[in-house]
Amino acid sequence: MNPVKIPLSRYLRLLSGYLKPQWKSVALLYGLLIASIAMQLVNPQIIRHFIDSAQAKAEVRELYYAGALFIGISLIYQLMILITTYLSENVGWTATNRLREDVAEHCLRLDPSFHKAHSSGMLIERVDGDINALSNFFSKLSVMLLSNLALVIGILILLFREGWQIGLVMLVFVGAAISALQYVRRYTAPLWTKVRAISAEFFGFLGEHLEGTEDARANGAAGFVMNRFHRIMRRWFPLRFKAFMGFASMWITSLILFAFGTAMAFAVSASLYRHGAITLGTVYMIIYYTEQLSRPIEQIRTQMEDLQKADASITRIGELLATESTIKDGTGSPPEAGPSTVRFDQVVFGYEEDLVTLNHIDFTLERGKSLGVLGRTGSGKTTLARLLLRFHDPREGVVTLDGRDLREFRVEDLRRHVGMVTQQIELFQGTVRDNLTFYNEAIPDSRIEDILRELGMEEWLASMPRGLDTPLSSNGGGLSAGEAQLLAFARVFLSDPGVVILDEASSKLDPATEQKIVRAIDRLVRERTCIIIAHRLATVRRVDDILILEDGHMIEHGPRQALADDPGSRFSHILSTGEEELSE
Ligand SMILES: Nc1ncnc2c1ncn2[C@@H]1O[C@H](COP(=O)(O)OP(=O)(O)O)[C@@H](O)[C@H]1O
Ligand SMILES: [Mg+2]
Repeated sequence: MNPVKIPLSRYLRLLSGYLKPQWKSVALLYGLLIASIAMQLVNPQIIRHFIDSAQAKAEVRELYYAGALFIGISLIYQLMILITTYLSENVGWTATNRLREDVAEHCLRLDPSFHKAHSSGMLIERVDGDINALSNFFSKLSVMLLSNLALVIGILILLFREGWQIGLVMLVFVGAAISALQYVRRYTAPLWTKVRAISAEFFGFLGEHLEGTEDARANGAAGFVMNRFHRIMRRWFPLRFKAFMGFASMWITSLILFAFGTAMAFAVSASLYRHGAITLGTVYMIIYYTEQLSRPIEQIRTQMEDLQKADASITRIGELLATESTIKDGTGSPPEAGPSTVRFDQVVFGYEEDLVTLNHIDFTLERGKSLGVLGRTGSGKTTLARLLLRFHDPREGVVTLDGRDLREFRVEDLRRHVGMVTQQIELFQGTVRDNLTFYNEAIPDSRIEDILRELGMEEWLASMPRGLDTPLSSNGGGLSAGEAQLLAFARVFLSDPGVVILDEASSKLDPATEQKIVRAIDRLVRERTCIIIAHRLATVRRVDDILILEDGHMIEHGPRQALADDPGSRFSHILSTGEEELSE
């Protein structure tokens, strides 16, 4: 009868995990539900009593009592519905907010490779759409589905008590109604799954193109983007249309079914009444119960549907949560504060199975020294930096800090110890202060201001209408490339890591900014172990060691002075030919 496969254990695990902390509310909820079912079952009995007493010409006072009881129970019942709704929404949202939190945090921890494979729009659909579907599951389904089933069973038992004929007829009716609705549903449910899949795709697409609008417009790709937009719409529209038609046909089916049910109840009870087997009050009660059946049957149907939506959501969220970061935390103590010795020991790495991006990289950078890394675009410089931050693990060989394999550290500890200044600072919606301190309130404003001043950013700060409280937009609008880079320096100085990687901006900056950056680098190199991916000769003139990469191979490594003095070295060739050789 039921095409939905319900992996009960999975639901129970999810339910118990997120509902346990709220067990008091949940218990109260169930208590209220049992009471409200009892009330729904009792009320028709009161009506029967009323009708039969009236027919038997009982005292008017007794009729008043029955009437008052009926009204009283109905009012209390409505009140209980109110409380139940409040409780279930509360329980549902508390549970899903915790799940939302877990999923969002999990996504943040996953590797860059995961984020490359999943668009942000798609993750939003997971964290928002799927979890909303689950909120319904937590707040209504688990409780309401059971209570509706209990109500249907209760009504059937009471009808059987009135006479097996009526009980049997209504049992058959309930069975037929549920299976007929399931039958129709079997054709419509898959449509909804498809509609959801397309909507996830659409939001992924939208997110991607709203983020990259400037590029798309600049390159005249708007037409192409709109074309893809229309193509998705063209698939989306007919599916939604069909899915809603499915809704309508379900609705019509249930209307027809219930009309049949009432007719059957009338027929059976009329014949029983004619034979004197039941009273007129009982006839009314049977009709009342029959009407009462329609609501839970209708709800059980939609709840089965929700259950299936929840099932798809649980599957997808389960998959997401089961996606483990390939980068696993170690159990060792954090790296020792201060500069560390960095060593790459025969490191081989590739992003793709059969490709090698870094080939037997082997060097030691002593504590407190600086290394300039040179090489053409695509030679693997940024990849080297990513390995040191453990965005990826080497395929062969090890990377160590003070002789300890990076995999021994907790990732968080490692990334606190190794800082990075990238070419592109990622700003988020927040004040200048929050963007620099990442909400670390222990950092006093005076320190932030000192550092900005030392970086030559005091004029920039003064131009901010509300100083450190000025909000910045998430794409860093209004910041020049140089300013963005200097802000990235400020971040690193504030967090003060022992090891710093600088992926220098390759674009040309105005001489004043260039000066500021050179000075910032000089400061950075002091008292820290530094790896500088250099795009400017000015920077390289100050480092201790030089490493030159070509297609992932180390083609030269040694002390800068020695290489500069050796006329046959690649480095001295670069020095004599100038900047172009550096990055291109
Ligand atoms: N996330 C990635 N996935 C797959 N390949 C990548 C990724 N990042 C870089 N690559 C490839 O690895 C090689 C080295 O890139 P990268 O380290 O960024 O070089 P560089 O910083 O020297 O310009 C390039 O061929 C690049 O295409
Ligand atoms: Mg790079």
